[in-house]
Amino acid sequence: IERTLSIIKPDATRRNLTGKINAKFEDAGLRIVAQKRIQLTMAQAGKFYEVHAERPFYGELCEFMASAPVVVQVLEGEGAIAKNREVMGATNPKDAAPGTVRADFAESVGENSVHGSDAPETAAVEIAYFFSGLELVG
Ligand code: GTP
Ligand code: MG
Repeated sequence: IERTLSIIKPDATRRNLTGKINAKFEDAGLRIVAQKRIQLTMAQAGKFYEVHAERPFYGELCEFMASAPVVVQVLEGEGAIAKNREVMGATNPKDAAPGTVRADFAESVGENSVHGSDAPETAAVEIAYFFSGLELVG
C-alpha cells in the first residue's frame, strides 16, 4: 500500500477549506494516516521546494508557503501518489479537470491550494521531512 505527502497550502487554510479538501481525498479512497497544522519558516519552505530553486517563481513560492499555516498530511491507499495527483488536478487551475481540488478551490497557478508528491522517491523524502515514524498511524 502506497503513501504520499500532501500539503494544504496557505491560500486554502486562509479560506477555511481544509475539511472540504479532505473530503475529496477521503471520497477518492485515500486515508489520512497523519496530519498536522504548522507554520513554515521561509527557510523550511525553501528547503522543501529546493528542486525549484532555479525557477523564476522560487522566491514567490517560498514566501507564499510561509505566509500562513499549512496542513501537512500523509495519504495512504492503492496507487496513492497518482490518485492524489488526480484528485488535485493540473498545477494551473485553468487546466484542472472539473471536480478536482484545484478546479474547485485554487486561486492561481502559484496559489493552487495543494501539493502532492510526484513519485515514490520524492514521497519518501517529503514524508520524512515532516513526520517521524511514530506519527504515522495506518
Ligand atoms: P506541487 O504538488 O505543489 O509540487 O505542484 P505541481 O507538481 O503540480 O507543480 P510543480 O512541481 O511544477 O510546481 C510546484 C509549485 O510551484 C506549484 O504547485 C505552484 O504552487 C508553484 N508554481 C508552479 N509554476 C508556477 C508559476 O508559473 N508561477 C508561480 N508563482 N508559481 C508556480
Ligand atoms: Mg511538484
